[in-house]
Amino acid sequence: MSEPMPDEVPQTSFGFSSRAGTRPRRLLCVESSCDETAAAIVDEDLRVLSSVVASQTALHARFGGVVPEVASRAHVERILPVLDEALREAETRLEDLCAISVVTNPGLVGSLLVGLTAAKTLAMILQIPLIAVNHIEAHLYACRLHARRDVFPAVGLVVSGGHSNLYHCREAVDFELLGSTIDDAAGEAFDKVAAILGLGFPGGPAVQQAASTGNPRAYRFPRSFLKEDRLEFSFSGLKTAVLYEVAGKPPAPYDAAQIPRQRVADLAASFQEAVVDVLVAKCRQALEASGLKTLCVGGGVAANARFRERLDEMRAGGIDVIVPPLSLCTDNAAMSAVAWESFHRGRFAGWDLDVTAGLVRKPRAVKPR
Ligand code: KG4
Ligand code: ZN
Repeated sequence: MSEPMPDEVPQTSFGFSSRAGTRPRRLLCVESSCDETAAAIVDEDLRVLSSVVASQTALHARFGGVVPEVASRAHVERILPVLDEALREAETRLEDLCAISVVTNPGLVGSLLVGLTAAKTLAMILQIPLIAVNHIEAHLYACRLHARRDVFPAVGLVVSGGHSNLYHCREAVDFELLGSTIDDAAGEAFDKVAAILGLGFPGGPAVQQAASTGNPRAYRFPRSFLKEDRLEFSFSGLKTAVLYEVAGKPPAPYDAAQIPRQRVADLAASFQEAVVDVLVAKCRQALEASGLKTLCVGGGVAANARFRERLDEMRAGGIDVIVPPLSLCTDNAAMSAVAWESFHRGRFAGWDLDVTAGLVRKPRAVKPR
């Protein structure tokens, strides 16, 4: 068969030309920014051919939080089996890959370095491009991946263990940080309150579970900046309010196991409602301030059932709310498909690519209209 003429070249859902009859190109995505070792194969039509996540939750549970050195060592043990499994599940050989992406920022330095070393080594051996991915941008790209259509421009909210950031996303690789938390991240607050209530780690799912039988109006916890224009969050005071409720002010030693079950449920539900009230209010403010009608939500806290209910209400009210399925909210490598955006723009990393712990972007104050 003859080669198709240029005007016969079909557009993929990505808006990128691919020749009829040839298999879409494949990208290997590597993610190791915190306590999940993950790899995925995503083709250029943004189909997720495999997504493997090796969670370290059980390893960190007894410490009540992620221990960086334990995380790095676990990544070293898991990275090769995870890469193997991602390739096998996607029926992809190393020679089928056209590029490798790796999350380099933000995250735990030791953890990031394990993924970077694996990705760099493979890319060097295969002589294919290496692409750097920002973990936060990847969380929002999960919305693009899930929607299978253009979702930008949009307001983006990333609520994870380390971040609570609001963005004006002009396009997939052009995000402006509108505001973030001035203290604890939303997921961090869930984790700390879970510890206060003796619910274990990771805190988000545990608090959600306890809250399911609780009264969200039993306690009136603070909702920081709710009535203020600023697009910022603060969850530290809320966490402390829960602690004072449990342990008194100033806090006295207590045994979390002795707190009556219904009281734990009510405290969890009231805390969760306060977090969700603030998240929803700030999303609405950002939508109003930017004039945008689309909201993309990502990060582990976007898995929260009560938050998702409230997002459904926003959707019913006419906002185009995009929130990925749970597997794309918590850390995974498939969301690093944002690397295709760099690939198509020819933005490749050099062999001197390094990792950065802190988020590189700075917030810019935006006044609501
Ligand atoms: O995005 P993620 O998996 O990792 C980071 O990049 O931090 O987010 C993890 C955070 C943890 O703080 C966890 O407690 C929280 O997301 N989380 C939840 C839920 N599932 C995970 N928070 C509230 N409700 C949930 N169902
Ligand atoms: Zn994350």
